[in-house]
Amino acid sequence: MNDFITIALPKGKLFGLSTELFSKIGWTADGLHEKSRKLVITNDAARLKFIITKTADVPTYVEYGAADIGVIGKDVIDESGRDVYELLDLGFGKCHLMMAVPKDKKRARLEDYAHTRVATKFPRIAEKFFAERGMQMEYIKLNGSIELGPIIGLSESIVDIVETGTTLRENNLEEFAHICDATARLIANRVSYRLKFDRINNLVNKLEKFL
Ligand code: PRP
Repeated sequence: MNDFITIALPKGKLFGLSTELFSKIGWTADGLHEKSRKLVITNDAARLKFIITKTADVPTYVEYGAADIGVIGKDVIDESGRDVYELLDLGFGKCHLMMAVPKDKKRARLEDYAHTRVATKFPRIAEKFFAERGMQMEYIKLNGSIELGPIIGLSESIVDIVETGTTLRENNLEEFAHICDATARLIANRVSYRLKFDRINNLVNKLEKFL
């Protein structure tokens, strides 16, 4: 069994884009779809195992070697702090991390938000951003619908990802500071990358042709 490659794919926006890319090079399996109740989907002939996980858990499966490789956003890798090897920038899933505030309560400068509360799914990235600017903040970790924070008075600002900007606009929030850009990455477990070098490297070479 250990010549199988196990691939961790996140549920959500990156799932379809990832399976589409992998299928272009024949890396697929019967029944591989996001709503599958089966969480491990195997292609015995191609010696592939796909596992479908929560987005934030992909780096964990890969760091521990439960998955040899995975697809995940750069934002999630940085937030996780997990030790994984980034093999390839896949280019899709483009978004950026930013700080946003309510339009009608906008303060003049970033420093004017020092010591206020930030609602975020990315406390590690947010803390690094503010600490580098000498700002101490109170971080409130939320798991979704971050934009609610300032609307209902939980926080003065948010740190979150933006793709189209629709969610910000619809909730009367405005981007106040850009933090970093992110795209989907192909990541590998460091030991798997050495032990299964031929297959993983071959995958990287083939995928590069489609990017
Ligand atoms: C993300 C993010 C924003 C939204 C941004 O949420 O947290 O809410 O997408 O996208 P937009 O700029 O295109 O509007 P997601 O859909 O992942 O759900 P969540 O709120 O449950 O985290």
